[in-house]
Amino acid sequence: MGPTARASEHPTEFVGGHRQMLDRCAALVVAAGSGERLGAGRPKAFVVLAGRPLVAWSLAALAAAGVPRTVVAVPPGHGAAAEEALAGAAGDFPLGLALVEGGATRSESVRSALAAAGDADAILVHDAARPLAAPELFRRTLAGLAQADAAIAAARVSDTVKEAGPDCLVVRTHDRSRLWAVQTPQAFHAPMLRRALDVPADVLAAATDDAWLVERAGGSVRVIESPPSNFKVTTPHDLAVAESLLC
Ligand code: CTP
Ligand code: MG
Repeated sequence: MGPTARASEHPTEFVGGHRQMLDRCAALVVAAGSGERLGAGRPKAFVVLAGRPLVAWSLAALAAAGVPRTVVAVPPGHGAAAEEALAGAAGDFPLGLALVEGGATRSESVRSALAAAGDADAILVHDAARPLAAPELFRRTLAGLAQADAAIAAARVSDTVKEAGPDCLVVRTHDRSRLWAVQTPQAFHAPMLRRALDVPADVLAAATDDAWLVERAGGSVRVIESPPSNFKVTTPHDLAVAESLLC
């Protein structure tokens, strides 16, 4: 199915510039982590969730959102297994689905994938570990780029957040109404992401979130409210919750 045919599925959501942004966008799915906290004995992205590899859920949502090209960063040494696991998704991306080797840190994996993203104008970065991100969340996040250098999915913080010292004594209570828990997808204008990632290895290693690198480079970042289902699968409990939501 070509980009024109897909446009007719969402006639009211992507008009004018937003539609063009989608056609000129590539997604980077980072799936190169080892999944130590899940403890499944293999990389988390390839653990089976409700009948398919965890990473395949994100690829299906990106294809349904109309993203034309996706690059997946996979753990070094797992290329063959990854190719087999993702073979079924290849036909869903009109401009292709590419696999690259990820790096030692998440940001290095993003950087490797970005190098294979071609000449896209906008980039969506997504954690394979968030299998329940819906197509509409990808589209809304991308549309947020109209007002900022980066747009990031985030959840309002519902617990009161206190800051404590090393002695566990509370030093401050934060204003919850202004706090957001940051997630993926995160959308970037491609030149801004390239510039943000062009930093020394120690800075890259310290980044738990690509948007922080954009903030550091002086760029503007807009939050896009995401639903509770967009949680990250980190522990066996999270995997069980995801399984129960998908089955
Ligand atoms: N990731 C990556 N490359 C790395 C580390 C992480 O592509 N070197 C990806 C993971 O595959 C995941 C996302 O970044 O999709 C978020 O990371 P996390 O949830 O921490 O996954 P893991 O690093 O695999 O898990 P753990 O920290 O428990 O080992
Ligand atoms: Mg990790």
